[in-house]
Amino acid sequence: MQTNFRGRDFIGDLDFTKEEVETVLDVAWDLKRKRALGEPHAYLRDKALAMLFFFTSTRTRGSFEAGMAQLGGHAAFIDSQTTQISHGDTAKEIGEIFGRYFDGIAIRQCDWNFGNSYINDVAKASRVPILNMQCDVYHPFQCLADLMTIMEKKGRNLKKKKVVVSWAYAASYSKPISVPQSLILQMTRFGCDVVLAHPPEFKLMPEIMQQAQDNAKKYGVGFDVTDNMDEAFKDADVVYPKSWGPMLTTTDAGEGKALIDKYKSWITDERRMGLTKDDSIYMHCLPADRGLEVTDGVIDGAHSVVYDEAENRLHAQKAVMALTMN
Ligand code: CP
Repeated sequence: MQTNFRGRDFIGDLDFTKEEVETVLDVAWDLKRKRALGEPHAYLRDKALAMLFFFTSTRTRGSFEAGMAQLGGHAAFIDSQTTQISHGDTAKEIGEIFGRYFDGIAIRQCDWNFGNSYINDVAKASRVPILNMQCDVYHPFQCLADLMTIMEKKGRNLKKKKVVVSWAYAASYSKPISVPQSLILQMTRFGCDVVLAHPPEFKLMPEIMQQAQDNAKKYGVGFDVTDNMDEAFKDADVVYPKSWGPMLTTTDAGEGKALIDKYKSWITDERRMGLTKDDSIYMHCLPADRGLEVTDGVIDGAHSVVYDEAENRLHAQKAVMALTMN
């Protein structure tokens, strides 16, 4: 168990070592148990978190806000459009000033080629922990909840478990690549054999791929890449199919949409789930494009763990806030 979290940022998945992530999960399970028993756990009494959103949210906002209240503190929801940021407040000013009002600053800024550097610029000027509620590169709190959920369903020893991170077709918008990137970074540290499946135009960032390959080598696990969704699903223990945009291929919205529309067959339906192991689990960070990314029968079916996964956002985030902001 590691105990040196106080005052630290959590921006990228690898900011915490594997052992530190294990500590976060231990604390998350303790907090989950305490909430189930109705035991008070006000570790952050009189503390305040700024939640600065440049992008919409259901789960992230709800779980951070509820989590801070359950820890005895307060979370302030700040929509960037209601601030003076568009009138000149810089990242440095946000870090300096909010760092003096609040005990932590959580930020969601997903703009491609900007979000992560913005969050890091705020962090450089802040005296309090910076928590990444999703950027263009990482979605680290989602991934902690995902890891927690996989361990609850498959056991804490994930050795030889086949975890498939797959692209899926969706029509709603060109979604960030942060979720698959966080997954391949974190899961390759925890014993599972990771398979990444996507059409050729939907590659992830080369430096993230390299880090995942380095992890796989260090921890003695598989990390394979394929452009065949059926092949990936064969005998999988965990499937995590979701849409993302072709950011590395084009940033033009029209061209991106045309590329996405080439791959409408990349849906998770009952036939595809039939390729996986009988006790496999279906995961999705949500929101999902029902009927396009996944059928109702799968997302509402026996393999789906999406609501337990969404719940674990709360417990994992409370663990990191309690450890870093106390
Ligand atoms: N999974 C996730 O981050 O959900 P929201 O976009 O609703 O916060």
